[in-house]
Amino acid sequence: MSHKAYDEEDHIELEHSDFDRIIQKGLSRRGFLQGSAAAMGLFLAATPLAKAVAAATESTLLGFKQIPASTADTFAVPEGYIAEPLISWGDPILNGAPAFDESGVQDAAAQAAQFGDNTDGMSFFPLADDHALIAVNNEYTNYEYLFAHQGKQALSADEVKKAQAAHGVSIFEIKRNAKGQWQVQPGAKLNRRITGYTPMELTGPAAGHDLMKTAADNSGRKVLGTLNNCANGQTPWGTYLTCEENFNGYFGATDAAFQQDKHQKRYGLKNESKYQWFTQDERFDLSKQPNEPHRFGWIVEIDPMDPTSTPKKRTALGRFKHENAAVTVDSNGHVVVYLGDDERGEHLYKFVSKHTYNPNDKAANRDLLEQGTLYVARFNAADGELKGQGEWLELTHGKNGLTKENGFADQAEVLIFAREAATQVGATTMDRPEWVAVHPNGKSVCCTLTNNKNRGVEGKNQPVGGPNPREKNNYGQIVRWWPRGGDHTSTGFDWDLFLIAGNPSVAEGLYKGSSNINADNMFNSPDGLGFDADGRLWIQTDGNYSNAGEFAGMGNNQMLCADPATGEIRRFATGPIACEITGLTFTPDQRTVFIGVQHPGEKLAPSHFPAGGNSKPRSTIMVVRRQDGGIIGA
Ligand code: FEO
Ligand code: CA
Ligand code: CA
Repeated sequence: MSHKAYDEEDHIELEHSDFDRIIQKGLSRRGFLQGSAAAMGLFLAATPLAKAVAAATESTLLGFKQIPASTADTFAVPEGYIAEPLISWGDPILNGAPAFDESGVQDAAAQAAQFGDNTDGMSFFPLADDHALIAVNNEYTNYEYLFAHQGKQALSADEVKKAQAAHGVSIFEIKRNAKGQWQVQPGAKLNRRITGYTPMELTGPAAGHDLMKTAADNSGRKVLGTLNNCANGQTPWGTYLTCEENFNGYFGATDAAFQQDKHQKRYGLKNESKYQWFTQDERFDLSKQPNEPHRFGWIVEIDPMDPTSTPKKRTALGRFKHENAAVTVDSNGHVVVYLGDDERGEHLYKFVSKHTYNPNDKAANRDLLEQGTLYVARFNAADGELKGQGEWLELTHGKNGLTKENGFADQAEVLIFAREAATQVGATTMDRPEWVAVHPNGKSVCCTLTNNKNRGVEGKNQPVGGPNPREKNNYGQIVRWWPRGGDHTSTGFDWDLFLIAGNPSVAEGLYKGSSNINADNMFNSPDGLGFDADGRLWIQTDGNYSNAGEFAGMGNNQMLCADPATGEIRRFATGPIACEITGLTFTPDQRTVFIGVQHPGEKLAPSHFPAGGNSKPRSTIMVVRRQDGGIIGA
């Protein structure tokens, strides 16, 4: 979701003296730069030595010619590449679905059979050489385009249902034709829409708890729908993980005197909601159903191969504003899932499964996410250091102060109020953890920290330092860590910053960015993130696209590619006006990549992507391949 961290009036005052001190201290402690992967952590743009190192380590992993920043209403890719739309919001998926009608008058039933709005995280599931499934999130919807009245009127019950139908997950078959183009197969057997009211099961330690029970469900195990499905994960046993992010925004209170308790405040629940659902659908009315929000904010596991299967909310992975779920299987067989909580000053988590993965027994793996241990990260660093060590703190009832005396009656409460448990154990407040990605060699992990205007601000209790080194962080950075001993189940790790985004043309000190950022590849607010099988790191942005002031020269949101060994970064794609680029998945042969273009023309900005003319802008998945059929990025 586009988080408006940058209000028009939000002028950021930089305090340079502190950062000059940090730069000098960081450099002196680091000593001479060696050009190794570990030393690449932070090459500061201001130093001639860093420039020399960057120039000497030009990548052999990146083979494309980077493209310039763009403010055009187009999706641009490098020379020699082809980009075509695969599917746009409102295109038919289920049998009998009507074609998209841009007037905004189509009803909930039509939307529930069409591609949902605001495409986000997605995964590719091969069925045969030229036949596959895509499972993709539909994060939220834009009322300015969903309704003919642009959301300026009070919503009817059917309009609320239509908005709920634009949310969730879309699953559809695709086939490759003789020309090499992947095309959607409307009405195909495995096609499915999951919406804000699809029946789901709550599983794991919090299922059935009193805090999960509502008037409609006295078992605390059955919930309708998944919401604000941001990014995703894919398990080795063939399931899709969809991650519930800003669920709080759908709740409101018809009783204006309703007062939020401390838990509701920590999760951002308010009496007002721009979506208006609480006015028509009682389960979103906090003053009537205070437990309903406990049933959102989870990782949801879906079997895409069975359209009749019930999606499962996996409570063992904790409740917060989930970004993605980066899954890896450690050498000891335990499944490790890295998880970001995208809010200013929130935390970075990991889950370790109790049982181990068995590649020869698909059925036995189906409930591996049911039981395990949740941890939250603490990053340690000497004052001013931009690398250091860290530890994973266990979030288990009875340990680390997670006791009844401290407000946690049992493990279900630790998981339902995971944010408060993280505070209790002393987790590091982060600059909005977005996607996490595990390198294919299994040795390192990266997480985008997108930006944080609250960092270092008085009263916000988010001190500057460690992996969050800038006050009022307007550009974002990528933190990288190496699990101790190469073991993802280890509680120790070493970390550095792979990059610090910035603007070397207009900013000073650390706000210029690390030395792998230059006037030709600069960007702000890294968000989507993924490694391909060769280890290229793909970075997508959801940032300020004003192309002015501190963001001058950055243009529209975009996708870049980095070589983790040398630090080199090149711009690979640029999106249309007022979009975010989010969601990426590759074919196993790496010759096709699917890239999400979310909310082009948001807030009525002048975009007509992808159809052009006077058409309504529509969120769209782009398919990108090379004219010569080669590997993407090589
Ligand atoms: Fe849905 Fe944090 O982005
Ligand atoms: Ca995101
Ligand atoms: Ca974002």
